[in-house]
Amino acid sequence: MKHTVLRFTPSERWMHNVVMFNFILLLVTGLGMIYFNVSAQVGDARGFLVSAHKVFGVLLMAVPLIIFVFGNKRIWLENIRVVLRFGMTDIKWFISQTLTPFLSNVNVPDADKFNAGQKAWISIAFLSTVSLMVTGIIIWQTESAILPLFIHTGVTILVTPALAGHMFMALINKDTRQGVTSIIDGEVDAEWATHHHKIWMDRMARERVMEQFRASDEKSEE
Ligand code: HEM
Repeated sequence: MKHTVLRFTPSERWMHNVVMFNFILLLVTGLGMIYFNVSAQVGDARGFLVSAHKVFGVLLMAVPLIIFVFGNKRIWLENIRVVLRFGMTDIKWFISQTLTPFLSNVNVPDADKFNAGQKAWISIAFLSTVSLMVTGIIIWQTESAILPLFIHTGVTILVTPALAGHMFMALINKDTRQGVTSIIDGEVDAEWATHHHKIWMDRMARERVMEQFRASDEKSEE
């Protein structure tokens, strides 16, 4: 029988999936608007895309904020701590991953809950989403916002290949696609998790032992 571990709590899954759906729908409606602008077509279809883009934009700002405020605060802090802890091991991880396709005996350092590539993607996704939100609001509220429109389009063009890379790793790449269940029911194969996130798995095992000690201490005090 396969053993599984909980990789993402319901708060984390809701956050990811709300951002995922809205971000992709914003990309599709945004590209549609560019098509209508380039082909100089005006009409109901363009108007519909503009309204849909605004609705998904508002949802992308409001729903994650609600999930953040009412979600599992401990897990946000833990994730932020892991992402901000970027050191030599992460640099070694990047170098060894770059060399892996060319050299067979490369030693890839163990990763925490997120490896260096994931930490980079989290930072890119967060910073680009915030800048798209800010420039999006300015474009919506201002008559001629050339610079914000330029930044809004530029950030979209830059983040799209990174998103394509993320989707490739999640859905196609043989070694990593097993983890896709983490955004559905939160569970992943324990062996897969130990191979990809050994530091995180060791930390969780230590925390479980400590919890058991605490529980038995409390029992013996009663
Ligand atoms: C079809 C689209 C997408 C799929 C299938 C997908 C899938 C996944 C999966 C499976 C994970 C967890 C990986 C693990 O267990 O380590 C993940 C994590 C994550 N996703 Fe997505 N995702 C998609 C779109 C997006 C979008 C649009 C964003 C944000 C703009 C996003 C941001 C993130 C972030 C920040 C993480 C945590 C870091 C990481 O694990 O890479 N994802 N995604």
